[in-house]
Amino acid sequence: MEYRIAVVPGDGIGPEVVAQTLKVLDKVGEVYGHSFKYEKVLAGGCAIDATGGCLPQETIDVCKASDAVLLGAVGGWKWDTLPGNERPEMALLGLRKELGLFANLRPAMLFEELADACPLKPEIIAGGLDIVVVRELTGGIYFGEKGTKDTAMGAAAYDVEQYSEGEVRRIAEVAFDMAMKRGKKVTSVDKANVLESSRLWRRVVAEVGDRFPEVELNNMYVDNAAMQLVRNPKQFDVIVTSNIFGDILSDEASMITGSIGMLPSASLATGNFGMYEPVHGSAPDIAGKDMANPMATILSAAMMLRYTFGLGKEADAVESAVKKVLADGYRTHDIAAEGEEAIGTEKAGDLIAANIG
Ligand code: IPM
Ligand code: MN
Repeated sequence: MEYRIAVVPGDGIGPEVVAQTLKVLDKVGEVYGHSFKYEKVLAGGCAIDATGGCLPQETIDVCKASDAVLLGAVGGWKWDTLPGNERPEMALLGLRKELGLFANLRPAMLFEELADACPLKPEIIAGGLDIVVVRELTGGIYFGEKGTKDTAMGAAAYDVEQYSEGEVRRIAEVAFDMAMKRGKKVTSVDKANVLESSRLWRRVVAEVGDRFPEVELNNMYVDNAAMQLVRNPKQFDVIVTSNIFGDILSDEASMITGSIGMLPSASLATGNFGMYEPVHGSAPDIAGKDMANPMATILSAAMMLRYTFGLGKEADAVESAVKKVLADGYRTHDIAAEGEEAIGTEKAGDLIAANIG
């Protein structure tokens, strides 16, 4: 089979981690007899420099004409002084909206070999951690009405949090489907003691839950969820929540694994289309130094193989190759212990590719 992948290397370490990921995908193609065709396009700061805007129409068109999108990272110091709506990060929001990527899956799992990096006490994480945050990605306060107005207290600014039944229903369905394939437990996170939008959220999630009698549904207020994630993270299987709560909780969930440089993500539309990117950002401080960890991007490509292309065996092979490299004792700079020797980005990509097949 031939698969068309739009590749958006982006800024900072993005191009480096993406290059290693394509190396691994090529190896997968070679071993399993698939052909991956890449089309590179610009988004983020590099697009601002080249075209004046962070998300050129050509990029949107190429992404739409592809089977999936692989993205590195966007943003950097150079563009930090631009006004809010011109910043590189807006490219991400634009891609999510244009491509209809309403479901963001952010797995937070503990790699056994890296358990020491987890900042929680060993007894709290004994037996491992395997959580997936299902974040609504094209609605809520990120995309609601926004503006400024004058008030008696001076100038004011506002951003509206709004959710429709249809938006909640489709993200809840993703969460319950996912739970069926995992631990059969969904925790829906909201602020229903205060917010009207959360009360609607809670009602619709319960309706969807009724169709999944095998899945246990719990509701949790977001403040409590933030606390429970560090108090007893093992209680969670699938967490489903709004755009903004998911933004915050997925960072927290990734931090408790101790290895944000290892965590992949998928942003899915209806059908099998998806955009795949590491959870970490563009890390401009280490860009171009062969110091970045490509594993999160490589694991994102594994998610692409699994969710968009339906290539489960190939996805397993990529994940096993990453685990093998860790088990063999190799560490990139971000996960090396004090004084431990670290390998570079390229070497990590080479080793992972060599362990496929
Ligand atoms: C993320 C990021 C983005 C978000 C920013 C860069 C717009 O923090 O993907 O979590 O808030 O969604
Ligand atoms: Mn975020």
